[in-house]
Amino acid sequence: MNLTMACVWKIILLNIFIVSGRSNVMKGYFWHISDLHWDPSYDVGSNSASKCASSGGRPTPNAGRFGDYSCDSPWTLINSTLSAMRGILPDPDFIIWTGDDTPHVPDEQLGVEPVLRIIGNLTHIIKTTFPNTKVYSAMGNHDYHPKNQMPPEKNNIYEQTANLWHDWLHAASKETFKIGGYYTEKLLNQTGFRVVVLNTNLYYDQNKLTENIKDPADQFSWADKVLQDAAKNNEKVYIIGHVPPGFFEKKRDKAWFRKEFNKRYIDLIQKHSAIIQGQFFGHHHTDSIRMFYSSKGSPISAMFLAPGVTPWITTLPGVIDGGNNPGIRMFEYDTKTLLIKDIITYYMNLTYSNVVHERWEKEYRLTEAFRVPDASPASMHRVMERISSDKCYLQKYYEFNSVNYDLTECHADCRVDHVCAMREVDFEAYEKCVVKEGGSFTAPVLFTLLLSLMLSLLCFN
Ligand SMILES: *[C@@H]1O[C@H](CO)[C@@H](O)[C@H](O)[C@H]1NC(C)=O
Ligand SMILES: *[C@@H]1O[C@H](CO)[C@@H](O)[C@H](O)[C@H]1NC(C)=O
Ligand SMILES: *[C@@H]1O[C@H](CO)[C@@H](O)[C@H](O)[C@H]1NC(C)=O
Ligand SMILES: *[C@@H]1O[C@H](CO)[C@@H](O)[C@H](O)[C@H]1NC(C)=O
Ligand SMILES: [Zn+2]
Ligand SMILES: [Zn+2]
Repeated sequence: MNLTMACVWKIILLNIFIVSGRSNVMKGYFWHISDLHWDPSYDVGSNSASKCASSGGRPTPNAGRFGDYSCDSPWTLINSTLSAMRGILPDPDFIIWTGDDTPHVPDEQLGVEPVLRIIGNLTHIIKTTFPNTKVYSAMGNHDYHPKNQMPPEKNNIYEQTANLWHDWLHAASKETFKIGGYYTEKLLNQTGFRVVVLNTNLYYDQNKLTENIKDPADQFSWADKVLQDAAKNNEKVYIIGHVPPGFFEKKRDKAWFRKEFNKRYIDLIQKHSAIIQGQFFGHHHTDSIRMFYSSKGSPISAMFLAPGVTPWITTLPGVIDGGNNPGIRMFEYDTKTLLIKDIITYYMNLTYSNVVHERWEKEYRLTEAFRVPDASPASMHRVMERISSDKCYLQKYYEFNSVNYDLTECHADCRVDHVCAMREVDFEAYEKCVVKEGGSFTAPVLFTLLLSLMLSLLCFN
């Protein structure tokens, strides 16, 4: 019996015992999209071997109308993504857009003007598709020229971007945005709810301008104050940003933040976790979560990493075949508490759409796929534990991670990379996790093996 069959049987058996609870909460819905990375050079009609600048010379024999796994998004994919969103949920309460708009090409092929034009084009299509929807938009490390070099002070690109996003920003938001690329507002102007949009590109280790600065653009002290005031005012908060803290699950030991910034970010979340109801980030182009725990070890916050729209296979050394299908996701939330009730991820099978016809489909619903009641920190901790201790959940998670692009089996090392990245955002705790999980037969693994054995006996005797 292969892994897939064993898992199918197991899920069927487990589902017999589900008692599904219905509740009467007032539900709202919003979209989260990330990493659109439009490549204006994409050209299916061209005769050259590579059809786009972002392939960096990699061959693209299957380049189609909606894109290629070696390229960033063609305009048809951007347009198709926005059409799909409008088709599935035309009137969301709001949209979270976590940046990275430009193609992966050398700086020399871009410039301030092209970067701003691309941000402008994407802003325009989002605005025309959702003319009456509030968008909370964070800058990505690719939304600057030269890329990654976000200054901790006033500059032309923050200013121009604030102008492009004029309709989405309150006057006070525009002011802080121009200084540091961050802002806060009441969520949809409602009392008791708040969003904090951060510019975590300031903490990226590739950013040379913030290397020796303790608190770039005073963002940490600003965020601390904002969250302190929010607590005083009994507000619930969503945190939005692009580059996440912690580690990349597809490459062992690969962190993005500088060490001291990583620590300070965790401190901020720990201090204010009582009011934070979700963190929404991108940058990985993969679908994953990051858990935050109290000093006593209880789950206090979950960060949701949205898959990218671009299918681009990363050129990061050490990552093998790191592509993804274009993904978008819808959140269901409790409008009284901002608790995340569910997450539904939709995707385009790029191969299928290129060959047969344009198609977006549901990939999975969190509560169904992982059998949890909602996406609270406690539930996400259970999801993580299931992935960690059960091969079937690990494999399912692994396929979702690349939005059904990489369907190979996630073996022992792969399990360690993913589980430790999800569980430990802190640098030292991550290292410890890698050592601990790397040692083979832990109790949960043994338990899973036993359970699988029992289930297979049950099914096939
Ligand atoms: C964008 O999508 C709409 C709706 O699917 C379609 O009518 C239009 O032709 C598309 N435009 C481009 C440039 O692909
Ligand atoms: C992008 O924006 C520029 C103006 O800044 C416009 O000329 C161009 O047609 C736009 N391209 C697309 C594909 O919308
Ligand atoms: C929200 O409040 C701001 C300032 O308080 C105001 O400028 C804006 O028009 C309001 N927006 C809506 C949609 O009510
Ligand atoms: C995507 O589409 C291709 C071509 O139709 C198909 O071979 C592949 O199995 C599909 N992938 C998934 C995850 O459905
Ligand atoms: Zn990106
Ligand atoms: Zn990025």
